[in-house]
Amino acid sequence: MKKKSSEIIISLQGINKSFPLEVGGEQQVLFDINFTVRAGEFVAIMGPSGSGKSTCMNIIGALDTPTSGVYELYGQDVTGMTADELAIVRNEYIGFVFQQFNLLPKRSVLDNVMLPLMYRGLPMDERISRAREMLRRVGLEKFETYLPTQLSGGMKQRVAIARALAGNPKLILADEPTGALDSKMGNEILRFFQELNRDMGITIVMITHEFDIARYADRLIHIRDGHINYDGPIPRDDKNL
Ligand SMILES: Nc1ncnc2c1ncn2[C@@H]1O[C@H](COP(=O)(O)OP(=O)(O)OP(=O)(O)O)[C@@H](O)[C@H]1O
Ligand SMILES: [Mg+2]
Repeated sequence: MKKKSSEIIISLQGINKSFPLEVGGEQQVLFDINFTVRAGEFVAIMGPSGSGKSTCMNIIGALDTPTSGVYELYGQDVTGMTADELAIVRNEYIGFVFQQFNLLPKRSVLDNVMLPLMYRGLPMDERISRAREMLRRVGLEKFETYLPTQLSGGMKQRVAIARALAGNPKLILADEPTGALDSKMGNEILRFFQELNRDMGITIVMITHEFDIARYADRLIHIRDGHINYDGPIPRDDKNL
């Protein structure tokens, strides 16, 4: 049984987001988004292309700020933070996993995994041993000297996950983490997320446009045209979404 904690770690209250249009005026992308995520949850945010998933994720990940509304991460109001403060919040709490892996192509696998530890003031030998431990966890300990270009897509994503884990985040934000993988490798990554969530209690918010991927989570938030139209347990099928 999964431990249910009551600690709210993500709280979006009346979030709106607009982008300026080049022709003048603006385009509103998110409309009055309200939800909370508690520690230990595995949430999928699903919706069609252009519905505002990544925009929402960028706000959750303190990569962008809302136009209006209140966003609190671990009880801290992120809305009014400076860029430097946002960077500290990201580095301290969040591990990011992206569709295109975002690895540094000319740096070794080990260097890539060590990246989030750069700002932690840890001695070099501790950074190395921590990165090695993370690579062991994703089954890539034998590949630490490889370059990302020498790895398969699934292996690259495992390196990206090891990197996300290296900073010991309480929260993993994954935007289409299996979007660039075939279904076998994708399933492997999704099962690994389930393990991280169940065994280590890491909170996961994962974006996807596919119901079969969302099913790996315990809760589904469905967005359509910038509005939440479903928030609850994973339904039996996606007919009514
Ligand atoms: N930085 C930006 N500047 C202007 N418009 C943007 C910006 N980011 C996103 N948008 C617009 O916001 C809308 C939603 O984009 P978003 O990337 O959130 O969609 P998405 O649900 O993640 O789609 P996909 O499944 O294709 O990744 C789109 O119309 C997009 O053009
Ligand atoms: Mg997107």
